Amino acid sequence: MKDDIIEVWDNRSQSYSKVVQGGMASSYESRGWQEIFTDAMGPGRYKVLDVGTGPGVVAFLLSQLGHEVTAVDLSEGMLTAARRNAAQYGLDIRFEKGDAEALPFPDSSFDIVVSKYVLWTVPNPAKALSEWYRVVRPGGKVIYVDGNWNTDLESSWWRRRWKDAARLSTALSERQYSPRERKDFSNSMWEMLWSTHADRPAQDLNMMGEVGFENISTVHIPNRRVLSGMRYFQHGYWKGNFLVRGTKGSREGPTENR
Ligand SMILES: C[S@@+](CC[C@H](N)C(=O)[O-])C[C@H]1O[C@@H](n2cnc3c(N)ncnc32)[C@H](O)[C@@H]1O
Repeated sequence: MKDDIIEVWDNRSQSYSKVVQGGMASSYESRGWQEIFTDAMGPGRYKVLDVGTGPGVVAFLLSQLGHEVTAVDLSEGMLTAARRNAAQYGLDIRFEKGDAEALPFPDSSFDIVVSKYVLWTVPNPAKALSEWYRVVRPGGKVIYVDGNWNTDLESSWWRRRWKDAARLSTALSERQYSPRERKDFSNSMWEMLWSTHADRPAQDLNMMGEVGFENISTVHIPNRRVLSGMRYFQHGYWKGNFLVRGTKGSREGPTENR
């Protein structure tokens, strides 16, 4: 199943990279995400791992804030796009091929692990969360953002129509999402994804607790917080995102700034 999922992301890497470049070009969107992550991370400069970086957007935004960022993804297409984008933005980020469920790093390698729009698409989210826990140092944090992509649309006729209109306008204006012969998520893949059947973020909070995180919390992120104008029309048809945060317990006390 994982190979099929990564093939979909490989196929989407070019069009997805265009979406990310559009977001980077919007100061409203960039600043919005920087504020959201900074609020969750707390003040300071950190050694950060971005899991499932895709074309690199979270890695870029945190690197611009002065954090030392490493980023992993399993899709070669996404990593190629991320490296090209990083060169374009003049950012020094270490990109590596790596599986969210089996990270290629020793225990306690990072102050903070971040991830955006990734947990929903991994086969075993509890395994991924325990890996993220393993590579963060005691007192460090795991912070991720995700959404209810499938259920938001299933439950609302007008959101589905909005998505169709947004996709059409994007395809016409930027020639995206067009190659029909390429593999995309099939109905059977959606069925197999855990997130299609999950009550989120309630289930996320349970999984975080079972992995051993402390100070677990979640916050809703309305689309208006990070999208404006045409970008809101093109990408705002979901109900919004949620951010989940947890700390790895430490005898030394709470997270310290470096
Ligand atoms: C929706 S994209 C999100 C990209 C980026 N984080 C963002 O916010 O735009 C999901 C990304 O997760 C990656 N991914 C999916 N499963 C993965 C896994 N098991 N390990 C690492 N990356 C994975 C995909 O290749 C894809 O780049």
